[in-house]
Parts: sequence; C-alpha cells; structure tokens
Amino acid sequence: MPPDERLVSAGLADEDFDLERSLRPRALGDFPGQERVKENLQIAIEAAKGRDDALDHLLLYGPPGLGKTTLANIVAQEMGVAIRTTSGPAIERPGDLAAILTNLKQFDILFIDEIHRLNRSVEEILYPAMEDFALDLVIGKGPGARSVRLAMPKFTLIGATTRYAMVSAPLRDRFGSVYRLDYYDAATLATIVARSAAILGVALPADAAMEIARRSRGTPRIANRILRRVRDYAQVRAAGEVTLAATRAAVELLDVDDLGLDEIDRAVLRCVIEKFGGGPVGLDTIAASIGEEADTIMDVYEPFLLQLGFLQRTPRGRVATANAYRHLGFPVPEEQGRGAPGQRALWEAGDAE
Ligand SMILES: Nc1ncnc2c1ncn2[C@@H]1O[C@H](COP(=O)(O)OP(=O)(O)OP(=O)(O)O)[C@@H](O)[C@H]1O
Ligand SMILES: [Mg+2]
Repeated sequence: MPPDERLVSAGLADEDFDLERSLRPRALGDFPGQERVKENLQIAIEAAKGRDDALDHLLLYGPPGLGKTTLANIVAQEMGVAIRTTSGPAIERPGDLAAILTNLKQFDILFIDEIHRLNRSVEEILYPAMEDFALDLVIGKGPGARSVRLAMPKFTLIGATTRYAMVSAPLRDRFGSVYRLDYYDAATLATIVARSAAILGVALPADAAMEIARRSRGTPRIANRILRRVRDYAQVRAAGEVTLAATRAAVELLDVDDLGLDEIDRAVLRCVIEKFGGGPVGLDTIAASIGEEADTIMDVYEPFLLQLGFLQRTPRGRVATANAYRHLGFPVPEEQGRGAPGQRALWEAGDAE
C-alpha cells in the first residue's frame, strides 16, 4: 500500500493536509489531553506575557500525530506573536538559517520541525542565536576571514522531533523546557473525534466516537483519519447515518484490529515471532524482511508496540512478548515450557554484556 494511503503514517497526503488544518485546535483550552504539558505551557505563556518578554525556547517530542505542530501554533496564537515554520532537512546551509533568523521580529516564534535532522554547521549558527540572540557570521575566506557578531531580535525557538535521542546534547541543553507528548487515552480521543465530527458536520453518536477512539492507537491524527473513512462508509453503505455498526464495518474494512494495529504492525510482530523465534532481532533485519523502511518502523510503528508491551527493546534487538504472541493467536512459548520469550532474551542480553 503506498504510504500516503495508509492510516498510520508519518507523511501527509494533500487531502490530509487541508483536513488537518481545519481540525487543528487554535487555543490551549480547545486542545484536549496532554494536561501536564498544557499546564506548564499556560504558566510559561502567562509569565512571559506578564514580563513582556519572549517565551523560553521549547522542545516538543513524541510519536507522530500527537499534536506537536498544533501546540507550536497554539503557543504562537496565545502569545500573540507570528510563527515562522521550517524543518531540519529544509535548512541546508548555515546561510539559509541566518537569513531566516535575521528576518524574525521581536518575540516571534521560529518553529523547526524534525529538528534532529539539522546538520552540524547549521546547528552551530543556532547556539549563539538561542543563547545570546546573536549571529556569528564569517566574512571573507582563508587567512583574511574574520568573524563578526550581529545582534538579532529576541525570539523563541520551538523545536519538534519524533527522535529525541537524535537531538544533539548541546542543542537539547539550550532549550528552557522540554516536553514529551504521550499517547492519548480512549476517552480523550473520543472527545477529540467528537469535536472533529462537529466541525465536519457529521452526527457522531457517543458509542461510535468511542469505537473510533479505541482503534486509533492513541493518536489524534489517526482518529481523524478513521472518522473520515467512517463518514465515507456511512454515506455510501448506510444512508449517511453514522452508527456503531457502520463504524465497526468501516474499521474492519481498514484492517485495523481491536487494539488499533494495522497490517504493518502485525507484519512486524509476525516477523519477529515466526522468522526469528520471538527475537532478539535487529530493527534493520525486521525492516528488510517485511520490505519497510527502518526509519518508518522506528518512528511510526515501534513506539506504539512498545507502549502496548508487545515489543521490548534489548541490547541485542527487538523481542516479542508473550502478549504479542497471544494477540496474534500464536501459542506462547512459555506455555510449552521454554520460558517467556521476552524474559529469555533479556537474560541472554544481560549475559552477553
Ligand atoms: N490534542 C488534540 N486535540 C485535537 N486534535 C489534535 C490534538 N492533537 C493533535 N490533533 C490533531 O491531529 C493532527 C496531527 O497533529 P499534529 O500535526 O500537531 O501532530 P505532530 O505531533 O506535529 O505530528 P508529526 O510528528 O507527524 O509532525 C492535527 O490535525 C491536529 O488537529
Ligand atoms: Mg508536526
């Protein structure tokens, strides 16, 4: 299946892009979930405004579709400042970043998505900018080259990443606050999907909203995508009425199981269990074996499987747990007297070190 037709994906198809924009909450009070992050942001925003100052630099990380970009935009809105959006891979040379920085106005927000993908030389421009609101530019070449420091307006950098571990330590240290976004519980997702349905003009009964919520792997973006498929299904097959039955039927067609796992999640687990005896097996091997990109598995699929407790990470690779065996209907090795697969590998991994 091409990535942009998938329910679970990092990238966005064009139609999704418009939909996401229309469904994006614009104020903190409109953004259900992530209570601790919101409370901290609320305080930071109010304090900065009270002092007539810029907000501290902010790093948001967590799996795709949980609201990083949305929160960055909300922060700008609540601060009453402009937001300039770019991304790590889009900034190729230090000069590109210098140009962006010099165009910022007092207290503006610069949002850098996928900030872990900034290259080193670009990052080095960022350090003095974040710390001293200064640009260090090198003028000339060779022995005659000299460095000049230019002052720039005070601004706020908001970074977002799905890969916290890949953000370099010096960059991480320069953020005043760092927040991780967590998967949403079903009740919160039901609220989100109900809000989206209202915006789309779809009458969505509470039981159908809950059904979508439970199948959305904790992710608002996926909840909104399922909602749209359910709406289509109801229109074509159920005289336009979104009922619980229609919702279930639509979700079945999407091959999403009752925990929200799709065919790729299941392929990952089946691969570990069937081809590698439950693991440990390296991520690259899994990727090659199911014909998927290792990065996609790592960013998009694995975090939820870890969260469910279906996969474990060990020093020697990924291991499928007894719960994964059960969910896919395989006999659990433990029950055949061989010890739980996850635990066995952890032991072995421990011994190997
Ligand atoms: N708490 C929320 N309430 C309502 N809608 C939300 C919430 N969080 C995310 N969404 C919706 O989910 C979609 C994806 O959110 P967003 O683009 O902010 O995710 P992201 O974390 O930036 O993802 P990525 O890592 O892929 O960039 C948006 O359309 C947004 O409206
Ligand atoms: Mg984003």
